[in-house]
Amino acid sequence: QETELKTLISHSKEYGFIFPSSEIYDGLSAVYDYGQLGVELKNNIRNYWWYSMTRLHKNIVGIDAAIFMHPTTWKASGHVDAFMDPLVDNKDSKKRYRADVLIEEHIEKYNQRLQKEIDKASKRFGDSFDKELFVKTNPRALEILEKRDALHRRFVAALEKNDLDELRNILQDENIVCPISGTKNWTEVRYFNLMFDTKLGSVTDEASVIYLRPETAQGIFVNFLNVYKTGRMKVPFGIAQVGKAFRNEIVARQFIFRMREFEQMEMQFFVKPGTEMEWYRFWKEERMKWHLSLGIPDKYYRFHDHDKLAHYANAACDIQFNFPFGFKELEGIHSRTDFDLKNHETYSGRKMQYFDPETSESYIPYVIETSIGLDRTVLAMLSYALREETLNDGSTRTLLKLPYILAPAKVAVLPLVKKDGLPQKAEEVFEQLKWDFQCIYDEKDSIGRRYRRQDAIGTPYCITIDHQTLNDNTVTLRDRDTLEQIRIHISELNNFLNTQYHY
Ligand code: GAP
Repeated sequence: QETELKTLISHSKEYGFIFPSSEIYDGLSAVYDYGQLGVELKNNIRNYWWYSMTRLHKNIVGIDAAIFMHPTTWKASGHVDAFMDPLVDNKDSKKRYRADVLIEEHIEKYNQRLQKEIDKASKRFGDSFDKELFVKTNPRALEILEKRDALHRRFVAALEKNDLDELRNILQDENIVCPISGTKNWTEVRYFNLMFDTKLGSVTDEASVIYLRPETAQGIFVNFLNVYKTGRMKVPFGIAQVGKAFRNEIVARQFIFRMREFEQMEMQFFVKPGTEMEWYRFWKEERMKWHLSLGIPDKYYRFHDHDKLAHYANAACDIQFNFPFGFKELEGIHSRTDFDLKNHETYSGRKMQYFDPETSESYIPYVIETSIGLDRTVLAMLSYALREETLNDGSTRTLLKLPYILAPAKVAVLPLVKKDGLPQKAEEVFEQLKWDFQCIYDEKDSIGRRYRRQDAIGTPYCITIDHQTLNDNTVTLRDRDTLEQIRIHISELNNFLNTQYHY
């Protein structure tokens, strides 16, 4: 698994998708820059989300709120008091960890041990193997399962009670060791707020402290009245937003999975109180459909319902993706009740209410939120798409099998050779296509190497301009996935490519 992630990181760098931030100074932990192809991929994901949320729903509109917000926002939202991680230091390695992540990883080890027992037995019994029965009856498997479940119950109870001593007891009782030094000499567990702060203007007192937003959602809540009134919106309706968020993450690993500066794509859907569970279920399904619409097999996705709810939610689940390091959260869907609007009403003194013209009642709407990480989606797409393929002739190629809609370039225009007027003809084709499609022009290296390069960056089609083109205005069109090549008239290209949009 680790090699898979390492290959992905070096591929992303080699082809200009993702670079470590300020790399000439040795980078900055958990901060990354998008290169020339990465930015196109990211823009394509953002646009695909934006259009499917706003254009395809007549009751959802978008906004773009500022990153800096009035500091009281974060009092009202609960982030000042409750947006914390339980941290623990290892006394020997002097490294800091999240206690909850260490315990979760330990639970995962029980799962792996159980899986090993299952695999061993399944080899022994062959076709007649019954996994359910085995886990229920095999003493070793049963013991692992019971220990795992007992630990899980204890962990969830400790989190629910915010019992930091109990988290430390778990670390000790389970002999959980520091991943760096292998020792288990832990300090007590403390809470640590994840928000970055800075100072506004020239004033230096307490009151001038402002935060970099840790989620985009609050920019939507504080604009609820503005949008509802100026947009003449009727409940149920939604407000969508894409933007940067910042968190001082302590566990900063796994490439762009957990970053300190990242982008979220969020949508708050305002509904009538009492109807929220219906809408929660609706958005759960709707969001899964969105992921599957990209054409990636459904075995890469699964729902994970939350045991422990965030301070604002009455129901919550994740859509998880099968990353190179296992199934992890890609998107959160939360039923946030009236928690945010009610608190903003209390703190601001403004009525955050909706007037229902049909019943002549006023109420604070309930909210269903869908919140997906843009960078995490980039990682999901790259990790699904990158593969080494053996061709029929026994040779291998690196392929980035990105969904067409997300590919940084849809088509590469390639003159066969750099002479005989072929580059000029290729320029004409490029000019014709560039208005409708993201195109790359490349005349460097042999045609074979150029094809390989386009495969490695995920370009679905290569168009080659050769000597025959000068005679009959036809070109070769090569398909990235099937490697099939067809001859097609230049005047047909736009039509052809347009019909490929939806696979
Ligand atoms: N407004 C709700 C909210 O912020 P969240 O589960 O904390 O919920 C939503 O975040 C999504 O944002 C996650 O599912 C993930 O995709 C992304 N995300 C959160 N923290 C991140 C980080 N440190 N780096 C990259 N993406 C992150």
